[in-house]
Order: sequence, then C-alpha cells, then structure tokens
Amino acid sequence: MYPGIEFPPKRGEINIRLMNSVDLDAVTAIERDSSPSPWNRSLFAGCLSASYFCLVAIADNKVIAFGISSLVIDEGTIVNIGVEVAYQGYGCGNKVLRRLLENLANENASKVYLEVRVSNQTAIRLYRRVGFTQTGVRKDYYSLGHTREDAVLMEKKFL
Ligand SMILES: CC(C)(COP(=O)(O)OP(=O)(O)OC[C@H]1O[C@@H](n2cnc3c(N)ncnc32)[C@H](O)[C@@H]1OP(=O)(O)O)[C@@H](O)C(=O)NCCC(=O)NCCS
Repeated sequence: MYPGIEFPPKRGEINIRLMNSVDLDAVTAIERDSSPSPWNRSLFAGCLSASYFCLVAIADNKVIAFGISSLVIDEGTIVNIGVEVAYQGYGCGNKVLRRLLENLANENASKVYLEVRVSNQTAIRLYRRVGFTQTGVRKDYYSLGHTREDAVLMEKKFL
C-alpha cells in the first residue's frame, strides 16, 4: 500500500449520455491508451457525422468510456467500445454495452454483430455475459504492428 493511494480506488457514479464533438479528444485518448490498434480522431468524428449511435460515460467529471453502435435495416453492430484503463473492471463497459443494446432493441434490431480480437478475453467475457455467442473466426483480421491477429465473430439475436 502507498500512502494516499486507495486500492481498489473509489470510483464515482457513472452517467451515460450521447457523445458530441467536444468529447472527441477524450474518446481518442481513451482509445489510444486501451487498444493495441487504436482508431484515430477522424474515425470517431466520422461515426458522429454518420449518425451512428455514440455514447460516452462520465464519472468524476470526465469522460471515462465510450460506446458506438450502428444499425442497417434490422442488423445492428457494436462498432467500438472502450473504457479508460484506470476505470476498467468496475462494470462500466458492461453498462455502456447494455445501453447500446437497449437502443438497438428499441430501434427494432433483430440481431447484433461484433468482432473482437481472439486474445481479448475480457471483452469476449463481457459480450458472452450479455448474450453474444461466437459464430466464426476471421483469420488475420487485425493488423497489430508487425503481426496479425484473428477476429472472433459474435452475434446476439433479439427475436
Ligand atoms: C473490454 C472493456 C470494454 C470492458 O469494460 P470494463 O469496464 O473493463 O469491464 P466490466 O467491468 O464491465 O466487466 C465486464 C466483464 O469482464 C470482466 N473483467 C473486467 N476486467 C477484467 C480483467 N482485467 N481481467 C479479467 N476479466 C475482467 C469482468 O469480471 C466482467 O465479467 P463478469 O461480468 O463475468 O464478472 C474494457 O476493458 C476496455 O476498454 N478494454 C480495452 C478496449 C477493448 O478491448 N475494447 C473492446 C474492443 S472489441
């Protein structure tokens, strides 16, 4: 234990709201620090201008997580989700994901797809927990610097 540092640290209440352009720097920083192949700012800006459903989670007066989904006809996709490293493991990813799914259900999606790195067991566990099942593997889907990694394809049916 270090003086003045609580372990586990206390975390404030989490509130979720729609993302807007003032959040882009914070969201890009979360992505940069938490993903091995991070999206850049313009990809997030593109999601906002394409009217994807984009959320941020706020705690301790700052953006600590984001989630993005899209919907084409009745097929939803979890496009990206990320939680600031210091706030991971406290249920925030679960909360953001459930809000994305709630919105897709309200928009009459019949199923939702996503892809996730095969080694990302935390995310895979989270997705299973909310009802996603694995439907396939896409070989060498992700480029990680000099290496590549397979994607696990997952699906959740609403109907
Ligand atoms: C994946 C991610 C979004 C999950 O969000 P989170 O807030 O950390 O996760 P939660 O606290 O909601 O926990 C979700 C599940 O993962 C488990 N989990 C969380 N952190 C974990 C860890 N470090 N090791 C193992 N399991 C962990 C939790 O126990 C929980 O499972 P349970 O409900 O069976 O107990 C987050 O860790 C993250 O941003 N990771 C980096 C970016 C990323 O991988 N995004 C997904 C791209 S597809």
